[in-house]
Amino acid sequence: MSVGNDAPGAWNRPPSGRAGLADPAPRVAFTAEQLAEARRLQSLYPDPRGALLPVLQMAQDAFGYISLPVEEYVAGLFNLSPAHVHEVVTFYTLFFREPKGRHVVAVCHNLSCHLAGAPEIVARLKARLGIEVGETTEDGKVTLQSVECLCACEHAPMMQVDDRYELGLTPEKVDRILEGLR
Ligand code: FES
Repeated sequence: MSVGNDAPGAWNRPPSGRAGLADPAPRVAFTAEQLAEARRLQSLYPDPRGALLPVLQMAQDAFGYISLPVEEYVAGLFNLSPAHVHEVVTFYTLFFREPKGRHVVAVCHNLSCHLAGAPEIVARLKARLGIEVGETTEDGKVTLQSVECLCACEHAPMMQVDDRYELGLTPEKVDRILEGLR
């Protein structure tokens, strides 16, 4: 399944694979505790909109991914248009617009990593996982991403696996990392 970003302004289109169908996700809302935390985050900024990214991260943690109803809900918390929130969500690769795998493997594709062999690393991952970049394995185990510089250029090629950096990658090391994912 695709987790790629849509073009800005496309927030009212149904996600890929469900063209023409209404989004079946129920309407969403934070719990009282989550809402209090969102309001606390907003209070930390001179302009409450400064808290949009952390609140969106909260929403992703709470709901699993940022669906259109979640975008609308968060937009309501900030008195923003859903289109504004959609453009933010689709700009950052850390936000998922469809359910993601239990593990997220994000390979850096910027210059240092590219020159050090990132294309070979991505090819190995695609072959081992049987998916393309932006997709999730059928069993829901792994989502594969290609991302901008993760600021570990001296250890290129590298990737992030969930919250962990994997540095100085080789195809053989990639195999070992994948075998360690449960
Ligand atoms: S270019 Fe890959 S971490 Fe910076």
